[in-house]
Amino acid sequence: MALDVRPLHPLFAGEVGAIDLRRVDDRPTLDAIRAAMDRHGVLVFRDQPFSDADQLAFARRFDGKLHSKTGAAILGKSRLGDEALTDISNVDETGGILRADDRRRAYGLGNRLWHTDASFQDPPGRYSMLHARIVPPVAADTEFADMRAAYDDLRPETKAQIEGLRAHHSIAYSRQTLGFEWSAAEQERLKGAVHPLVRINPRTGRRSLYLASHASRIIDWPVPEGRLLLRDLIEHATQSRFVYRHSWRVGDLVIWDNLATMHRGRPFDDTKHRRELRRVTTLDVA
Ligand code: OGA
Ligand code: MN
Repeated sequence: MALDVRPLHPLFAGEVGAIDLRRVDDRPTLDAIRAAMDRHGVLVFRDQPFSDADQLAFARRFDGKLHSKTGAAILGKSRLGDEALTDISNVDETGGILRADDRRRAYGLGNRLWHTDASFQDPPGRYSMLHARIVPPVAADTEFADMRAAYDDLRPETKAQIEGLRAHHSIAYSRQTLGFEWSAAEQERLKGAVHPLVRINPRTGRRSLYLASHASRIIDWPVPEGRLLLRDLIEHATQSRFVYRHSWRVGDLVIWDNLATMHRGRPFDDTKHRRELRRVTTLDVA
């Protein structure tokens, strides 16, 4: 079967017609969602009345193993009680809005940098599933960039130059670029991971750039040249023609392929407006 998908952008991203993902547990439908992910990179499912348990269960049915080694765990236990459920919100354990000087807030603001989820781990994140529970009355959008289209658009010399290169990704690094400070003990636990700069989708054979603000250097290159290459590639890959902007509605579940896209949260007054989403990310294992 094929899913009913309405394109949201000329290059990628689609909205799927009415479907209740809590009820989807047959292999043909799950395979159809994977095929649609391979094609579109980002899929929007509206009106999903997920509980935390429903969201975790769907992610396991769809893609197996879940990512649970989040950088945020270093700052303290999640109020949600399960490290596989990432708290993408600006509230504390009492339900109050995080204060401007709260370390968890500063950490969360790092999501406003272009990134892929869990690229600082090995295995890295594959699919992320973000569910909107409370959305502010002001725009608090998420942008996605198509890393396959960005790869295709590179000059042949650049493609040849970057083939086979590997980058080191670290959450400590991306937060440090925003002035976030880590203790020596925290840094010790955030060593990061090395991944290829170009990835090939095993089902479609399509290449994509694997980039993130977590990428701190190119292995085997001097640091300045590696950082400049990474900056140039991110600048190229996030031009507006490669970007889809999602405006959230309560009940939206957005699934993205971290190996085919980058994303970032857009600014809003988070010390004033409550915004609560939950993310589950699967692991890129065979
Ligand atoms: C995420 C993320 C951005 C946002 O959930 O992984 O980066 O807009 N979110 O909340
Ligand atoms: Mn993210």
